[in-house]
Amino acid sequence: MGPTWLDDAVIYEIYPQSFADSDGDGVGDLRGVINRMDYIASLGVDTLWLNPCFASPFVDAGYDVSDYLQIAPRYGSNDDMVELVEEAKRRGIRVLLDLVAGHTSIEHPWFQRELHAEGRDPQGDQYVWCEELPAPSWSTDIPGTPSWVLSPGPRRGWYLKNFYDEQPALNFGWAETVESEPWRDAVDAAGPRRNVQALKDIMAFWLDRGIAGFRIDMAFSLVKDDSVGNRGLPLTTAIWREIRTWLDATYPDTVIIPEGNEPRTDQPLAFDADFFLVIMEEHASLFDNHAAGILPFQTPKRPFFDADGLGSTRTFLDGWNAVKSSHPDRLVVMSTADHDFDRLRCGPRTPEQLGAALTFLLTWGSVPCIYYGDEIGMRYLPNMPNVEGAICNPTYNRAGCRTPMQWNDSPNAGFSGAAPSDLYLPIDPDPGRPTVATQEKEPDSTLSLTKSLISLRKANPALGAQASTRVIYPGYPFAYIRGETHLVVVNPRRDRAILMENEIAGARPLLVNGVSILNNTLTVEGFGYGVFTLPSGSDGRAGPVSKLRTGTPAR
Ligand code: NOJ
Repeated sequence: MGPTWLDDAVIYEIYPQSFADSDGDGVGDLRGVINRMDYIASLGVDTLWLNPCFASPFVDAGYDVSDYLQIAPRYGSNDDMVELVEEAKRRGIRVLLDLVAGHTSIEHPWFQRELHAEGRDPQGDQYVWCEELPAPSWSTDIPGTPSWVLSPGPRRGWYLKNFYDEQPALNFGWAETVESEPWRDAVDAAGPRRNVQALKDIMAFWLDRGIAGFRIDMAFSLVKDDSVGNRGLPLTTAIWREIRTWLDATYPDTVIIPEGNEPRTDQPLAFDADFFLVIMEEHASLFDNHAAGILPFQTPKRPFFDADGLGSTRTFLDGWNAVKSSHPDRLVVMSTADHDFDRLRCGPRTPEQLGAALTFLLTWGSVPCIYYGDEIGMRYLPNMPNVEGAICNPTYNRAGCRTPMQWNDSPNAGFSGAAPSDLYLPIDPDPGRPTVATQEKEPDSTLSLTKSLISLRKANPALGAQASTRVIYPGYPFAYIRGETHLVVVNPRRDRAILMENEIAGARPLLVNGVSILNNTLTVEGFGYGVFTLPSGSDGRAGPVSKLRTGTPAR
């Protein structure tokens, strides 16, 4: 298995297009990130995750790579990336890159070579081509589901895509090989093996330049038809285990984090964590009020972090327990938000409500990941234009969470010197929009709270990812004990909530807003939150949430 440093990590996700533009072209760049490294360090985060910054035609914001070994010129050069990694390292920060493992851009030379070939490559095709269009053996309704695209030629037939048409799926083979469908290579055929080697080569290239690991885009999209018979994607995960074994031998300090949860097979796990994505029910049931639209596979629900207080932690806790019951030490990464959905502050959620959400996210037993701008409470902005494939369908707009970082009150909120019309996306037009400069001066700002929570987490191992997490009340107020020594309570609703529980008697406040304790009664004002030490206790290790107790919520 991989290294242990991820246990203590606090991750910060940067969408490079929108973070800081150093050269005034309206698009963020690596120099912009380097220039802001002191700010990043001031948050207390220790791991950066950069969305893809490789050469790309940007049909899907860089998730369509045309050269994995070259930084996109608009972001800078490979030397700039090396400098960024060094500047981060000087401040104790590791850098993760985003590896798009399952597909490339149609402009990638590998695809262009096969597009211009007469037929199959004798050394094995790196993509999946068919001459007769087969009936789909899976549903293609969900965005990101592979389907066949007519070849623009000269090669005849169709190629398999993973996401947009311009993102052809790399050929990692098929679970089922059928004589009548000759494009179904076995996983050990020449084409799939070339691609596994290509992934290792790309990873080695960037690891040799000092990065600490990868977030793997669509990690479970590799082998097609792999889930036939509900076997938990055994062939795809076998590829990742092969890569993990190679990393352990060659780059042992490297972490790999998948997009989503790793499917369970009867084999050891390959990745260093599961990732409760924003679009997964576990996360959505807590935070999503559908400000970015409703994805086809999501049912509308009132999230738990909602002023009306009609939500539940049940879906989240079930997902959490499912991970922890079989693998108690397994890490789960949980973000405030990400580049694919809405932000923490979206729809009706006001800045006042963010304290409870951030307190939960930074004290729960997961590995926290802060999406750039959420530390100051930037808004998800509806009705943003469709830039670089941000709008997947009419009810799903990702542009609203990708708008430029709001640094200060200078033009373009300090993001860029370009004309406003040349910006990657518009700045939040609200004159009262939050900025780093303002919030750095305010002790009660969302930014100050985020920093305090991170430093509290770092100073108290009981609040870290490997200490135990025990829920004492799953409703309003949500209350849990970390490491058997620290009590956390959050009340995401606007009404006061009261909990009577003997275990809280004598708790001493570390960071509190709107919470009081009298003997065994905890009173939490609307949107209140608090972190306390308990009078005595023993250090616990992580495990499933256990012993749910009844509380007495009151309005
Ligand atoms: C998931 C990424 O997070 C998303 O932004 C991208 O569009 C798809 N994968 C396709 O690569």
